[in-house]
Amino acid sequence: MGTQDGDVTAHPGRLATAAVLSLSPYVPGKPISELEREYGVRNIIKLASNESPYGPSPAATVAMHAAIADAWIYPDGSAHELKQVLAAHLKVPSEWVTVGNGSNELLLLLAETFMSAQCSGLCSQYGFAIYPLVIRATGGRCIEVPALPADDPMPYGHDLDAMARAITADTKLVFIANPNNPTGTWVDQQRLRAFIAAAPASTLVVLDEAYVEYARLNGCESGLPWLGEFPNLVLVRTLSKAYGLAGVRVGFAVSHPEVADALNRIRPAFNVSNVAQAGAAAAMADQQHVHETARRVVAERGRMAAALRAMGARLVPSAGNFLLVEVGAAAQVYEQLLRGGVIVRPVAGYGLPRHLRISVGLPEQNDRLLQVLEPLLHRA
Ligand SMILES: Cc1ncc(COP(=O)(O)O)c(C=O)c1O
Repeated sequence: MGTQDGDVTAHPGRLATAAVLSLSPYVPGKPISELEREYGVRNIIKLASNESPYGPSPAATVAMHAAIADAWIYPDGSAHELKQVLAAHLKVPSEWVTVGNGSNELLLLLAETFMSAQCSGLCSQYGFAIYPLVIRATGGRCIEVPALPADDPMPYGHDLDAMARAITADTKLVFIANPNNPTGTWVDQQRLRAFIAAAPASTLVVLDEAYVEYARLNGCESGLPWLGEFPNLVLVRTLSKAYGLAGVRVGFAVSHPEVADALNRIRPAFNVSNVAQAGAAAAMADQQHVHETARRVVAERGRMAAALRAMGARLVPSAGNFLLVEVGAAAQVYEQLLRGGVIVRPVAGYGLPRHLRISVGLPEQNDRLLQVLEPLLHRA
């Protein structure tokens, strides 16, 4: 057995592809149980993963409880009913809808379906961290386009003009988060439409609208009406945010039916569970709950933003359910917040070592965050 084989015997992980070995795993927000274990802190609040503090519609919870009875049966692999509900809500044919185990799975499926080592995928600096990860996992080249500068009215946001210029003949996918996580920034509707219209037919434009239910209240509208016009446009949405179902994992893509057909060829047959399908269908039926969640969260976001500004913090404009706040020495402030029982999200991994991303919680949770953060800001 040669040296290399010997290495592989001792280190089977090295059998992974070079592309996968080059990746660093996505770092999610710290779970409450971990903070309890590590620091012995109690009464913890987590404002780190952009979940909805209002949870799902009560009707979704009832539907999920009922669906547990079918836990022993495989789910409907085509998610027929859920797709009908989604299609009716979006006013599109159900053949345009592809369901995923969270929208994260759809981002991965898009890359697996359309990319290869011979092509490139494009995203923005400070864009959602999963985009470079799914692009690179295919062995393809990731073109990361510099974001708008810190003194732009949309600091750290996507620079659509620069992104348009960076598309090459081998670019298969462009990822645009509107609004973006972790920045909260959004792009102008007219410019976005012009960007999509100018994109070559050989490039799919993936518009990630994870926060669209909140964003609408900032005038940041969906690209849904453009789908019929642009066959290379793909929308990706999730029930993890305003619908309050992050834990059951449901997302969906809306696209040209041929794109949906291609995605469905590699989509794991039972990727959305019985419980998730039932919960998602019921959650979609209760739009009142979603509107009320968005209304409350956006009002609280405004209140938090005003309070943080009054403390001297600089904020990035946000159309999501979170704020990107410049706090100075963010690693230290993060650590002190943890000791005060508040989990937020450090974003140094995104190249933003002076910022923290803070999800909007319940009013009392936001009060607690402001109270623990204020003295730290003055020291930072
Ligand atoms: C912009 C964006 N897209 C997609 C996702 C993935 O969400 P999920 O897989 O829960 O649908 C997130 C989650 O944070 C996000 O912020």
